[in-house]
Amino acid sequence: MEVLLTETQIRTRVAQLAAEIRRDFPTDLHMVAVLKGAFMFLSDLVRHTTGAVSLDFMAVSSYAKATSSSGQVRLLKDLDSSLEDRNVLIVEDIVDTGLTLVYLQEILRARGPKSLRTACLLSKPSRRQVDVRVDYVGFTIEDRFVVGYGLDYAEQYRNLPYIAVIES
Ligand code: IMP
Ligand code: MG
Repeated sequence: MEVLLTETQIRTRVAQLAAEIRRDFPTDLHMVAVLKGAFMFLSDLVRHTTGAVSLDFMAVSSYAKATSSSGQVRLLKDLDSSLEDRNVLIVEDIVDTGLTLVYLQEILRARGPKSLRTACLLSKPSRRQVDVRVDYVGFTIEDRFVVGYGLDYAEQYRNLPYIAVIES
């Protein structure tokens, strides 16, 4: 497999994002990570975040065991706590067609957060089907299927500490 982003590249960029997010939200920051793909990104992001931050998790399913989108988004696990009057940051692994994120932003905005922003480690703008706002992007990449650092192909490769390209 071809390595697209090394551990060092990822670590450097995640530290920058954490600093930028902290600057924008000096207090009251609540991160909502989207399982399973964002688990590694979230864990590095919070380790680079100084000061107070709280976390929650939700799970959605938009893909079957394949590399193509079904366009269907299903809520598999909901949050534990309310978002009302909190500064909420959605933490996602990758924005591809944008369908998952549009759905997430819509349902979370309806819960009355003080602010709602989104951080994605990766973005594939050439694949976008809907116009979706992403406030913090780690890396913009070409239209290639990537795995590692939380991202899977048929539930495998999430453990890789780097991001690699799978030829399909
Ligand atoms: P979207 O709804 O098409 O934007 O898809 C977002 C979700 O699709 C991500 O959270 C990933 O789970 C998955 N996905 C999209 N592209 C890739 C990829 O290149 N590798 C692994 N998963 C991907
Ligand atoms: Mg995902």
